[in-house]
Amino acid sequence: MNINPRAIQKSVEVLSNKKVGSYHHMVFSVGEMALHAKPGNFVAISVGGNSSAMVLRRAFAIYRASDRGNFGGTIELVVAAHGSGSRWLSERAIHDRVDMVGPLGTSFGIPTEPVSALLVGGGYGSAPLFGLAEVLKQRGCRVDIVLGASNANKIYAPLEGKRSVNTMTLTTEDGGAGVKGKVTDVLPQLIEKHNTEIIYSCGPMAMLEAVDKISQHFEVLHQCAVEESMACGIGVCMTCVIPLKDETGTIKMQRSCIEGPVVDGSKVIWGSNRQIPPGTLGSQALGVTSTWDPDS
Ligand SMILES: Cc1cc2nc3c(=O)[nH]c(=O)nc-3n(C[C@H](O)[C@H](O)[C@H](O)COP(=O)(O)OP(=O)(O)OC[C@H]3O[C@@H](n4cnc5c(N)ncnc54)[C@H](O)[C@@H]3O)c2cc1C
Ligand code: FES
Repeated sequence: MNINPRAIQKSVEVLSNKKVGSYHHMVFSVGEMALHAKPGNFVAISVGGNSSAMVLRRAFAIYRASDRGNFGGTIELVVAAHGSGSRWLSERAIHDRVDMVGPLGTSFGIPTEPVSALLVGGGYGSAPLFGLAEVLKQRGCRVDIVLGASNANKIYAPLEGKRSVNTMTLTTEDGGAGVKGKVTDVLPQLIEKHNTEIIYSCGPMAMLEAVDKISQHFEVLHQCAVEESMACGIGVCMTCVIPLKDETGTIKMQRSCIEGPVVDGSKVIWGSNRQIPPGTLGSQALGVTSTWDPDS
């Protein structure tokens, strides 16, 4: 696969920047970039200004894209000020400009028939799920969503997002909001109650792995948006590779910025922890001697 053919690079204007809980909800005027953005796609943003030593772009999932309205096309992001690059972005004021490349990567597959869908988000991982919920609703799907984080401040659940879902369940590890525990604690019950046919998830890798185990147990399809560290975001550097099985069952190291971020959960070799699993295509030539067993 190649870079998303719809991707463009553009200097875009900040239209709004509001603090919501632990996050910044930011809106950018992006023109035609919004036309082809789909739920699951991401953008890569240059941070730090022209003379910055931060040469690598930072990746952010598209929370919502709109090609209508007073400002033409807009893209909305939910930014957690995590390190120096995301902090710089979250400090941009209205009318500031940033350099953006997008839309990038794969998007969530939308069923052709109305199905019962369960969306699972961890922390800012809920960002791409609300746009997805809107599309699924337009297709006549039942949409339930479960959002989890360590505490209530880290759950991103905007009021307007509640309108596009049938039910919303919150979980926090400290019990500050919703059910005390992790998203995976409530999943089995929700799958049974709503006869879930497909799960869409986005969040930390450990959460995605746990969601995938549950989806396999209930024999429910699972599409997940992985968030492996990305240095270039456009398929050149290979920092973002994860082991994925192809249609023939062959394990290949694939770029999560090109073949992902949205992948079929059952195709991921979970728990590889940035190692090349034994049996991966080309691993013998590379002399991979890891004793790590993917089935253990
Ligand atoms: C597909 C995707 C979607 C994302 N969506 C969101 C979102 O919606 N909201 C949000 O807040 N965050 C999101 N993130 C996370 C966000 O990209 C990071 O928080 C951000 O890059 C951190 O940058 P920083 O400068 O603040 O942090 P720092 O930790 O200071 O810097 C991170 C930098 O180090 C590089 N890096 C890290 N590990 C490696 C490595 N192993 N090899 C090479 N380079 C490395 C990264 O590419 C990045 O340039 C997403 C990440 C991905 C991959
Ligand atoms: S981030 Fe460079 S190849 Fe994916």
